[in-house]
Amino acid sequence: MKPLKTKSEVRDFCRSVRDSGKSLGLVPTMGALHRGHLEIVRRSLSENDTTLVSIFVNPTQFNNAQDLEKYPRTLEGDLAKLREVGGDLRVFAPEVSEMYGDAVSSRAYDFKGLDQVMEGAFREGHFNGVGTIVEALLRLVGPDRAYFGEKDYQQLQIIRKLVEIRDIPVEIVGCPIVREVDGLAMSSRNGRLTKRLREEAPFIYRTLEEAKRRFGTKSAGKVKEFVEGVFGAHPDFELEYIEIAGDRDLKPVLRKSRHKKYRAFLAAYLGGVRLIDNLALN
Ligand code: PAF
Repeated sequence: MKPLKTKSEVRDFCRSVRDSGKSLGLVPTMGALHRGHLEIVRRSLSENDTTLVSIFVNPTQFNNAQDLEKYPRTLEGDLAKLREVGGDLRVFAPEVSEMYGDAVSSRAYDFKGLDQVMEGAFREGHFNGVGTIVEALLRLVGPDRAYFGEKDYQQLQIIRKLVEIRDIPVEIVGCPIVREVDGLAMSSRNGRLTKRLREEAPFIYRTLEEAKRRFGTKSAGKVKEFVEGVFGAHPDFELEYIEIAGDRDLKPVLRKSRHKKYRAFLAAYLGGVRLIDNLALN
């Protein structure tokens, strides 16, 4: 499978899909594909006649130069995995200059506060970078549906807001987190853990499950204290944040409402690798 490299190739490809009356799904990724991504690709294949997977490590969403440099780039392996999935799919793998020209910078969006908490509070400019590349891809491809994983749950809500405020006609589809058998959420970063730390990593999911159990009877404050306590006592983890927030507005919960859905969100460093996860609480 030869990837499309230029915007003009993508325009031609999308035009021919439209002209033949087919529906088109877009799966934006940064590559280093794992089973979680492949599930999303399969979902798009099952809901659309044709699927375009973009593979692009987007520089403007990294607020840390080292993180950008270390991000795995595995195009050949990714293409092999997609070939195995099969189906009517193409790949778009542009260079940075193709997407950004000479100006590698992001647009400043007003995401109505969704970007002021959690990932947004700890990764300055991150969501402006995500918004910039996702808007560029959506406008270039013009898909019927675009697919994003719930692993980056805050990102998913921000992309929903993006298409609303920028008036982009597309259905945004959220796909459930895919976990390893021990509960660790699949992530391109998991491969950077040593064998020993990989064995420690499911502690995140176990703690979120326990937080969910406690949320049934305890206040959000008490549940957060519990999570901070167990992470504080763990020799390998450094907790960055634990938040309990509304699942659509992402507003940290002050007082639980019976009519609202909540999620717990967590980011932690394990041996220098930053891992995030989230879990529906009710
Ligand atoms: O979730 C990701 O992999 C990226 O943030 C995305 C949506 C592909 C934008 O670069």
